[in-house]
Amino acid sequence: MERFVIQGGRRLVGDVQIGGAKNSVLPIMAAALLTDEEVVVRRVPRLRDVTSQIRILQALGARVVHDEKAGTLRIKVTNEDLVTAPYELVRTMRASICVLGPLLAKRQRARVSLPGGCVIGVRPIDLHLRGMEALGAKIDVRGGYVEAEAHPLRGATIFLGSSAGSTVLGTGNVVMAAVMAEGVTVLENAAQEPEVVDLCRMLEKMGAKIEGIGSHCLTITGVTRLRGVEHEVIPDRIEAGTFAIAGATTGGDVTVRGCHPPHLLAVIERLRAAGVTVNWSADWLQVKAPDRFRPIDVSTLPYPGFPTDLQAQIMAMLTRADGISMVHERIYPDRFIHVAELHRMGARIRKEGPTAIIEGVAKLSGAPVMASDLRGSAALVLAGLTADGETEVHCVYHIDRGYERIDERLRSLGARIQRSSATAAAAAGG
Ligand code: EPU
Repeated sequence: MERFVIQGGRRLVGDVQIGGAKNSVLPIMAAALLTDEEVVVRRVPRLRDVTSQIRILQALGARVVHDEKAGTLRIKVTNEDLVTAPYELVRTMRASICVLGPLLAKRQRARVSLPGGCVIGVRPIDLHLRGMEALGAKIDVRGGYVEAEAHPLRGATIFLGSSAGSTVLGTGNVVMAAVMAEGVTVLENAAQEPEVVDLCRMLEKMGAKIEGIGSHCLTITGVTRLRGVEHEVIPDRIEAGTFAIAGATTGGDVTVRGCHPPHLLAVIERLRAAGVTVNWSADWLQVKAPDRFRPIDVSTLPYPGFPTDLQAQIMAMLTRADGISMVHERIYPDRFIHVAELHRMGARIRKEGPTAIIEGVAKLSGAPVMASDLRGSAALVLAGLTADGETEVHCVYHIDRGYERIDERLRSLGARIQRSSATAAAAAGG
């Protein structure tokens, strides 16, 4: 099992390049099941989740060629008889549920394992299923699998929302089913996240008819056939935000390149409120940070609000604010697994329901900590970068799910962070 060993206390300085968005590329890969022509995806990040999604597409009869160096995927369906996405593949990654819509639309049948639990809290898929049923699919949940049949799919007016607001993957899934349904679908309370917009733009290029892209209401007129496409994935706003917050957390001066700052306005606004200088243009963003921050309140919200996927990272930064900050988690009320680990490093955080109250301290102190989800682990790395002494972050495979070579890229900014495997450590340390 690999871990990161971090010697804290270095300011991050320099430039870092951002890759394609994980949360865009995964549904976009699923969309390739909607055509029998070749789909070429560009700016594909090298991530464990991409590898998992490739395996699922292969299990569903697609030939996939991944040129990791060029960041390109070539996907072509060669067998449409396969309709099962098995538990062994689906359990590692929730985004695999996104094959349900395309399978129903193109093959009229799907058998997809339920994605299962997740340390960031309960993550139901009732809205995905409600959307498919509204389009006329017959759904059974049996033996841990969603078994669905289209008879066929027919356009409908659907409200897709829960008490937490819209659903990102659910919107993508229902859109992918609706693009080949008979007639018109009106999807109310659609998610507006840039990753949903990216998927819709790709589907349009394949011949889908979607109006209202980027708004809360999508109107989709079904077509009988979609064609192949070449599509470049948008830059990863969460990765960009993580590096920006990392730079700020260390009191550094970091320029994040190849990103799209208009996707990060809520984050930029909160960083400025904390006293960080942020400059940005069309495809870069620079943060220059003081040693201590002003305390701030942060509420996570659906886009364009502050993203839940940056909540843990901003909390790591606020552990060193000059006063009391509050972080309200409105998307996943239980997404606080990082709090206990930050305590181990000397952070003062009190949790009250979906709110964390953070009393800033002058310094964190390095400690062994355990990664247990993707963004929470990134927060532990950030904390380690600013702490006194050595921090070991264990189980870093969580971070590799969503950040490409994060250790190498942080080193290029001056961080002292090394990846070490348990065997190497045992051999070295006895
Ligand atoms: N929800 C339901 N029923 C559903 C679906 C969602 O009640 O059928 C609830 C969820 O429990 C949550 C809220 O609705 O409270 C929003 O969940 P959403 O469906 O939008 O989340 P998701 O689509 O499953 C994606 C990202 C997450 C990100 C969320 C919110 C991917 C692969 N995942 O998940 O990213 O946190 O949107 O923005 O796109 C990550 O990258 O670390 C990550 C967890």
